[in-house]
Amino acid sequence: MPSERAVTLGLAGAGRMGAVHAETLTTLPTVATVVIADADADRARAAATDLGAEFAPDIDTLFAEQLDGLVVATATDSHPALIARAVDAGIPVFCEKPVAVDIEGTVAVVDHLRHAAVPVQIGFQRRFDPGYRAARAAIASGRLGWLHTIRTITLDPAPPPSEYIARSGGLFRDCGVHDFDMIRWVTGHEIVEAYAMGANRGAASFAAAEDVDTAAVSLRLDDGTLATVSMTRYNGAGYDVRLEALGSRGNAVVGLNHRSPLESVEPDHGLPIGRPYQEFMDRFRVAYRRELAVFVDVVTGAVGSPCGPHDALEAFCVAEACELSRHEHRVVELAEIHQRWIRSPLRATHRSTGESTTTGRARGPKPRTC
Ligand SMILES: NC(=O)c1ccc[n+]([C@@H]2O[C@H](COP(=O)([O-])OP(=O)(O)OC[C@H]3O[C@@H](n4cnc5c(N)ncnc54)[C@H](O)[C@@H]3O)[C@@H](O)[C@H]2O)c1
Repeated sequence: MPSERAVTLGLAGAGRMGAVHAETLTTLPTVATVVIADADADRARAAATDLGAEFAPDIDTLFAEQLDGLVVATATDSHPALIARAVDAGIPVFCEKPVAVDIEGTVAVVDHLRHAAVPVQIGFQRRFDPGYRAARAAIASGRLGWLHTIRTITLDPAPPPSEYIARSGGLFRDCGVHDFDMIRWVTGHEIVEAYAMGANRGAASFAAAEDVDTAAVSLRLDDGTLATVSMTRYNGAGYDVRLEALGSRGNAVVGLNHRSPLESVEPDHGLPIGRPYQEFMDRFRVAYRRELAVFVDVVTGAVGSPCGPHDALEAFCVAEACELSRHEHRVVELAEIHQRWIRSPLRATHRSTGESTTTGRARGPKPRTC
């Protein structure tokens, strides 16, 4: 049952994502006080002043506040230390994806949290998007028959700043984790094989960071369903995030609406009708709000974390397989990644709602050790 207690939340990070979360947090009726801090103190102060929130000049001061929970929206390479510090202080944490820039860091965080006394929620906001939820329900209902194909795309209109790229972990870990998490979550099946290709035809900063600006991924799920993921940082038409679930009896398509940045060249069938999505905050505003409203309920103990670190690690293992596949030009089995990096079962982390890993169908995936 949702909580009625108003809470005090800290927000670490006032950049692109932090600004969205700051606006949400200051308008949630269940949040009494928001305290914002950033390595760039002026940025935090400006955000707090704009929104009527409180301001902490640095992270140490933020942690000295009486926080009921902490929202982390700093650069990815700072996530592990902030998660660990909050959990060790007994503060429930919401942290943006991904948990870390590499798999060593992600596994270390998950190990650290194994006996955590407070919950951790990772920011896979697509789990709160009405379209993805409808697709999951359609698949679980059996209405689509048996699935043969999942197609997902995540196309950014323009690349983020080069400093962001350098600290992001790369396209598969930064961007692809959303698609990998969704493929697992909507189908209730695990990804078992990956083959990935990447390309660099944009800014030189991608190659300098050993990253790619565009990628194509083929995946196989444990029930034989095939999936493809297409990603780029250069989609001039707009911000395009979609998923198609295609089955023996029907299909479910997420993200296809009057604002999809698609230009149909069919006579008399023009798309889009409205202003195409241009940014992630525009496309997922509802989902970002819902995930933080749920985090307040997680903080008060009304519900368990709907998306724990083990889910983040599962998606990250797929990203890792893609990175290895791209470098070595071969199909990579997820078992190879698990055997190399995962030492012991993950299920001992703080209780979750149980909706995080499977669709709850009778034919859902068998629990695995990653
Ligand atoms: N869920 C989503 O859809 C989504 C979308 C965009 C970004 N993100 C994630 O959000 C995080 C932030 O991304 P962004 O686009 O806002 O980046 P950004 O570069 O715009 O902002 C990052 C902010 O973190 C601050 N910062 C960095 N290290 C810090 C530290 N140690 N302590 C305090 N502040 C620190 C920076 O000064 C900056 O203001 C990333 O992990 C990214 O993966 C998620």
